[in-house]
Amino acid sequence: MRAFNFSPGPAVLPLEVLEQAQGELLDWHGSGMSVMEISHRSKAFEQVAAEAEADLRELLSIPGNYKVLFLQGGASAQFSLVPMNLAGARATADYLNTGHWSQKAIAEAGRYCRIHVAGDAGGNYTRVPAQSELRCSEDAAYVHYTPNETISGVEFGYVPETGSIPLVADMSSSILSRPVDVSKFGLIYAGAQKNIGPSGLVVAIVRDDLIGRARPETPQVFNYQSIADHQSMLNTPPTFAWYMAGLVFKWLKKAGGLAAMGERNHTKARTLYAAIDASRLYKNPIAVDSRSWMNVTFILNKPELDAEFLADAAAAGLHGLKGHRVLGGMRASIYNAMPLAGVEALIEFMLDFERRHA
Ligand SMILES: Cc1ncc(COP(=O)(O)O)c(C=O)c1O
Repeated sequence: MRAFNFSPGPAVLPLEVLEQAQGELLDWHGSGMSVMEISHRSKAFEQVAAEAEADLRELLSIPGNYKVLFLQGGASAQFSLVPMNLAGARATADYLNTGHWSQKAIAEAGRYCRIHVAGDAGGNYTRVPAQSELRCSEDAAYVHYTPNETISGVEFGYVPETGSIPLVADMSSSILSRPVDVSKFGLIYAGAQKNIGPSGLVVAIVRDDLIGRARPETPQVFNYQSIADHQSMLNTPPTFAWYMAGLVFKWLKKAGGLAAMGERNHTKARTLYAAIDASRLYKNPIAVDSRSWMNVTFILNKPELDAEFLADAAAAGLHGLKGHRVLGGMRASIYNAMPLAGVEALIEFMLDFERRHA
């Protein structure tokens, strides 16, 4: 039996996608080989790659003046590669600080350029700053933010307005979860292992005018210009992850695209937060308008029950609920591939656990 997997990433993948990959594993499209075993320079793989890009463009309505790059190094590599590609050595880059992943991005970028924190939610990072609280520099090379903080479960309900300064977003844990207007961004990047496919792949969507600005010392394999010039095949890409991402994009299209996915995700999140808010054992500390649709965090009012909660949940087929070590508590990551039935099963378990420990 398949578990309900609430892991923050690598995370649940759609069952249909896994079944298709399983069916094709030994003999991909009559080739007598796995897609993992063929050259990335073959016509057959070129088609896999091109189709994945075309489907992603369609899903996100990516305008023609943006390149889609398929990269390696995890989202963390982008923490350095964004300043290396977009900011000169004496430039200032603006960052919004909303918690753990923003802070990682800030720390890394600080090794390459001057950092101005243009917005800081502060406190325990249980909300995002409002647009009126942002103080962007006039001459910033870009403004970077983390639309969804995976660890605390804090999400922007709006896209920050930055005028003519390019907006850069680490969308690792929210990409493809609902429609987004790509034209508002200079650069979007996302590690694949939550809403796109297996780990090992990073997708970046870059506006043309931001390509070609890399510092001379930027490694070729991390230079957006050379990657774009070589259709993301300057060296051997993570071909299996790219293929899997393509299957996920087709699954998303079949499921009705991002508008349908957004409604589905909103329902899942609303249902789970409502159950938490109505309970006397569980509590979510995030400001209501900053609550993540993807990572729902909650604490037990009796933390001495944490271990028992997790053990009983696992016995009931509900996995990956342990909160991040820096925050403790629980976290249910309910990415695109988590069905509503999984959320309902979790709620049923939580209510039963609460009744048993009243
Ligand atoms: C928002 C966000 N950014 C960056 C990362 C780091 O990703 P990676 O492990 O691919 O470097 C994560 C990982 O969970 C994340 O959630």
